[in-house]
Amino acid sequence: MMTTTKDNGQNCEYFVVKAHDNGVQVIGLTRGQDTRFHHAEKLDRGEVLIAQFTEHTSAVKIRGRATVMTKYGVIEAGDQE
Ligand code: TRP
Repeated sequence: MMTTTKDNGQNCEYFVVKAHDNGVQVIGLTRGQDTRFHHAEKLDRGEVLIAQFTEHTSAVKIRGRATVMTKYGVIEAGDQE
């Protein structure tokens, strides 16, 4: 199977987040025993982030209204009006 860069045994899938408001946050949670925030990326309305899970990030939390796209499908984050 082909692996991506940063693939240390984890499956480093991409995900896409498109912000619908200013100040949407994409928060990276640490991989492993301990679950901490290690990075928060702020997006303004219309901005798109394309990112990967890595050896450091095993979960992501989205704060605010955004469309989140993964290989599992598309989901709307935040209150829908
Ligand atoms: N540190 C946890 C881990 O690597 C982060 C995590 C992944 C998590 N999936 C989760 C925390 C689901 C809460 C719920 O497993």
